[in-house]
Amino acid sequence: MSEPTILSQIAKIRNFEKGHRASQVINTGFRFGILAALADSLEGLTVPELALKLMLYEPFLRVWCQTAYHFEILDCDQQGRFKLQDYLDEVLGLTLPFPHPGQSTESHLGRPQPNEGDDPLSRYIRTGHAGYSPNIPEMSLERCRATKSIFTIFQAMIFPLQKDLENRLAEGCDYLDIGCGSGQLVMDFAKRFKKSTFTGVDPDPYGIEQAEQGIIELGLDNRVAVANMGGEEMDFTDKFDLAGMVLTLHEILPDVRLAALCKTFQALKKGGCLLILDYPYPGRLEDFRNPRFEYGIVEQYFEAMGGIVHIPREEQDHLLFEAGFTSIESITVAEGGMMDFLTARK
Ligand SMILES: C[S@@+](CC[C@H](N)C(=O)[O-])C[C@H]1O[C@@H](n2cnc3c(N)ncnc32)[C@H](O)[C@@H]1O
Repeated sequence: MSEPTILSQIAKIRNFEKGHRASQVINTGFRFGILAALADSLEGLTVPELALKLMLYEPFLRVWCQTAYHFEILDCDQQGRFKLQDYLDEVLGLTLPFPHPGQSTESHLGRPQPNEGDDPLSRYIRTGHAGYSPNIPEMSLERCRATKSIFTIFQAMIFPLQKDLENRLAEGCDYLDIGCGSGQLVMDFAKRFKKSTFTGVDPDPYGIEQAEQGIIELGLDNRVAVANMGGEEMDFTDKFDLAGMVLTLHEILPDVRLAALCKTFQALKKGGCLLILDYPYPGRLEDFRNPRFEYGIVEQYFEAMGGIVHIPREEQDHLLFEAGFTSIESITVAEGGMMDFLTARK
């Protein structure tokens, strides 16, 4: 056996994570009769056919099928019919005369019945409403942990390619962070760029509470302020040189996304610049197996229950134009181009 290296250990843990995610997709497929319905159909099923057969929420089934396609559990034909990959019915025990634990008891006898339950996942898959708020302390903490080293991405991967941006921050400007969470990035920026001022907004009250504490502890309250509101609720006019949405645009719910972009446009000075760092999301099924989109695909699957809808690049550009932005430019960053960094001008 060869000696472990840091890269081989990273790859090992990422493979564990990937396997865990794929198992969760498979388990949901068992639990709600999706895998059984697909195994029963020789020709495969389109998402609307699957939704009708199982009486489940079609948008979630679309995300489930696309994610299962990403993990190479399903294939898809030219007519959009999803089908289990060869041998998986056997390997997953779908050909056995008794059900998988958690699977519908009727799945081999007729229409598969979802395993009823009243947990948020079951409620969501049946009705499209999960009935929970993402703004709870545990989720807030989870989000902070997941994104605590975003400044490193700016430092190592964005500033070297965007010298103007770094210079503007170094010379002193007003920066607005939409979806600042617990304020880690604005605090890191404020420590590094001492002539600039920073304002963060976020609808998560727990994130804002943590940000307020951190700002005071670090003595940054003369240059950093945060407010508990969504981007769509902001009312700044011609105030900021730069506005950032870091891993945020995809999390702004579809019904307020355009409003949040319009308010961001209003908040920027003329010539100001919007920066978006986010996971790219594929617009065509064939790209669901492109590793560049892996984070976006997996995030979309697990965030769907919160009403979050990731959007492909074309749709994102369309929204930006609609909000008034021009000169949209983008670069790919992070290992394997897993993130897009985009700039747009007022
Ligand atoms: C993945 S977190 C990223 C947080 C932070 N930008 C970072 O990089 O650490 C996404 C953030 O978007 C926020 N968010 C959700 N809806 C929003 C909205 N309508 N306006 C502004 N932010 C929103 C969430 O509360 C969350 O803090």
